[in-house]
Amino acid sequence: MGNPLFREYERLVKITVLEKEFSVPEKNSCLRVFQFISPDTIPYGRFCWNAECQLCRVTYKMAGHQDGPPRTVLACKVLVADGMQITELSDELRYNLMGVICPSSPRPSYDDEAGIDPDLPQ
Ligand code: FES
Repeated sequence: MGNPLFREYERLVKITVLEKEFSVPEKNSCLRVFQFISPDTIPYGRFCWNAECQLCRVTYKMAGHQDGPPRTVLACKVLVADGMQITELSDELRYNLMGVICPSSPRPSYDDEAGIDPDLPQ
């Protein structure tokens, strides 16, 4: 029996996220495979997982179909596909995936993103 978080899959498919390649379980949503990639951060994101919050927007193209326009979708609603090239991430996804996409860059705090001075009294 596999991990109950993921739909049953037989193989891993290759995708790129901001040009970094990952092997992820087929037949799962993009948001779920982001959890596969980064199990320590995605579960703590502010994601609703059911198309309400809109915090999981991604833009992608398919390898071999570079002439078509990029598609913007909700990662919690679209299934991953072999050759998917995710070129843009929502701020929430970028924040939660930064550790695996760009491990040398420290994750900004939510306060940094909001332009809030952390030294100011709350
Ligand atoms: S996680 Fe909320 S819309 Fe996708």
